[in-house]
Amino acid sequence: MTDPPRAASRAGALFRSAWRAEPAVTASAPGRVNLIGEHLDYNGGPVLPIAIDRRTVVAAAPARGFTFLSELDAECVTRAFDEDPRGHWSDYLLGVVRELHRLGAAPRGARLAVASDVPAGGGLSSSAALTVAASHVLSRLAGARLTPGQVAGVAYRAEHDFVGVRCGTMDQTVVARARAGSALSYDSGTGLFERVPFDATVRLVDTGVRHRLMAAGYNRRRAECETALRRLRERWPALPSLAALAPSRLDDALRLLEAPLAQRVRHVVTETARVGAAVRALRRRRMGEMGRLLFDAHRSMASDFEASCEEADLLVTAAAEAGAWGARLTGAGWGGMVLVLAPDRHAARVGVSMQRAFAAVHGRTPRVWSVRPAAGVRGTMTD
Ligand code: GLA
Repeated sequence: MTDPPRAASRAGALFRSAWRAEPAVTASAPGRVNLIGEHLDYNGGPVLPIAIDRRTVVAAAPARGFTFLSELDAECVTRAFDEDPRGHWSDYLLGVVRELHRLGAAPRGARLAVASDVPAGGGLSSSAALTVAASHVLSRLAGARLTPGQVAGVAYRAEHDFVGVRCGTMDQTVVARARAGSALSYDSGTGLFERVPFDATVRLVDTGVRHRLMAAGYNRRRAECETALRRLRERWPALPSLAALAPSRLDDALRLLEAPLAQRVRHVVTETARVGAAVRALRRRRMGEMGRLLFDAHRSMASDFEASCEEADLLVTAAAEAGAWGARLTGAGWGGMVLVLAPDRHAARVGVSMQRAFAAVHGRTPRVWSVRPAAGVRGTMTD
């Protein structure tokens, strides 16, 4: 069996078959996996994601009005510039158009064809891949050259302000800024970032659980974190964010809060420390140490943040028993993918052990993906 054509050639083919013309600009943007630092990017904390070698491709040309086509949808959709969001995938693209317009960097109209190798709903940020790639092509069609920071900002505001998803800034930032062979150490509090060498293959084991509680759970956690911050400011008025709480003050903070706010704060403070330790471990190429931090992060996400699920806990336990360096549920939580770091020579065996342990309980074999740290958005003018 031959592999299906990659998203780049599918997007071009989709564009040509719909409009009998060549696209003028094409851009691709990757999905992402967060190595560690979960639920910190809306708490002013540090995160450590990588972009992955699975991409979303947008092929575009100028036109009258805005018409969008996805390979997942049989129909083209035409959207008026000033329409409200309507719960359709094209809202993400209209949001990008609107945000670019505020910067004076939107074309008057465009046709966009979208193809993707980033699985939707798996916690790999297919939405940031789409909005970042779209920001790039649409600004190029308008003759503008945005910085990676501007592209990330447009993509973030399109998703957060226009579509109304209460995400943090991690996904769009790494998708716009990543380089191959590195992870992005990004401080959501200051906006500062640095690249940390990381060239390992990461395995992702799919829990198969999709968005069961994701949106509701995510919004509830954000609200809990906001309440906890307000309460802690009664004691420390200058505290800028939960992630800024010094570990030496954690015990005092926990005494001021009742359950579940205390647990949420403990996750944020201990996870912030783990991200710092993870950056140091990667710089020294200490994968065993990195792996232990992943296991600790999973425990914290499961017990303190209560954002795991049975399927993920089972996979993480199986990874530990099979001798992985580390494993944890990555992304928003309550489903999606478990990421696994293991020595290359054991990785296949670890994957099979995890699949068997999962199948014995759930009666199905979870899919395993291998991904590598890849570059962020890139584009080409085709004429
Ligand atoms: C989702 C959001 C991110 C981040 C993670 C949790 O992926 O889009 O901004 O908050 O959850 O770390």
